[in-house]
Amino acid sequence: MAELQEVQITEEKPLLPGQTPEAAKTHSVETPYGSVTFTVYGTPKPKRPAILTYHDVGLNYKSCFQPLFQFEDMQEIIQNFVRVHVDAPGMEEGAPVFPLGYQYPSLDQLADMIPCVLQYLNFSTIIGVGVGAGAYILARYALNHPDTVEGLVLINIDPNAKGWMDWAAHKLTGLTSSIPEMILGHLFSQEELSGNSELIQKYRNIITHAPNLDNIELYWNSYNNRRDLNFERGGDITLRCPVMLVVGDQAPHEDAVGDQLWGTKNLIPASCLLQVECNSKLDPTQTSFLKMADSGGQPQLTQPGKLTEAFKYFLQGMGYMASSCMTRLSRSRTASLTSAASVDGNRSRSRTLSQSSESGTLSSGPPGHTMEVSC
Ligand code: BEZ
Repeated sequence: MAELQEVQITEEKPLLPGQTPEAAKTHSVETPYGSVTFTVYGTPKPKRPAILTYHDVGLNYKSCFQPLFQFEDMQEIIQNFVRVHVDAPGMEEGAPVFPLGYQYPSLDQLADMIPCVLQYLNFSTIIGVGVGAGAYILARYALNHPDTVEGLVLINIDPNAKGWMDWAAHKLTGLTSSIPEMILGHLFSQEELSGNSELIQKYRNIITHAPNLDNIELYWNSYNNRRDLNFERGGDITLRCPVMLVVGDQAPHEDAVGDQLWGTKNLIPASCLLQVECNSKLDPTQTSFLKMADSGGQPQLTQPGKLTEAFKYFLQGMGYMASSCMTRLSRSRTASLTSAASVDGNRSRSRTLSQSSESGTLSSGPPGHTMEVSC
């Protein structure tokens, strides 16, 4: 088998000029834990799940997902799905600051608000895409409502509660750092923060000057008080759907996402030598682990192209995107496409998702079946 290596892809493909994003409609619903706001793009497609996103702390759906969902190559994928972008309470644009003493929902309660959203929209199943705290919330939702989740893309998830060491470090950092700096340290690596790229300046500015900073702090506190997701492989508490775990190579908590806690097979890129633990906590036949090179703490912001590609293969593995449907994405590639991805009605489960720089390949579906692309 060819050696798997890192791939460098330049991400310079925003929406084409003249290409307008689909109209969005924002709604709010009341739930037992307060009101939640969400924005719907596109129209429901028969027999297809909705893509439901949940953003990380310090962000909202736009600042977290716009670069990914407006990425040029993403259009061909998302036109086949209605999208529901949930804003955590108080994070929506123009949200008023909660009154002093407001009891912000725990992450588990935020997950328990999702059924109200789906009920309101009359949607029965979802493919969840979550980052950080949002990934945790969607994983919790999937544990509680497995029949409604067809797949999960979990970016930089930490499924564990803070241990006492983490708390000690958190308290120490809190003595010298402001809330925005602590949140930036959660979103980005120290290397990225000290590099102070335009992206970092932009997000530092957004968070530091957020009019709802007090609300953000409440979401941050809920995140820090999360409990363990407590996955047990083969036990009752496990994700039953296909899962794509994504971690940026310089993510602040890269180890937590990967080998220590999940124990899933890392196939991208092999040169990263992420350890494989056999006692995986997720079903390895249902889980792909994607460690993304050159992507820092927020791969959906820094590498939307790579993530789009991986998402496409993930959906193909679930039987949703026949390669013949991928006209523009396929045309934009120079290498041959030899895909074993199944078409609607004949779904297979994705087991591997791998990337090689020498041959420029990404693979989807059972091992041995390769979809080649030039990167
Ligand atoms: C979407 O098309 O789903 C989308 C557009 C803008 C921001 C976020 C998502």
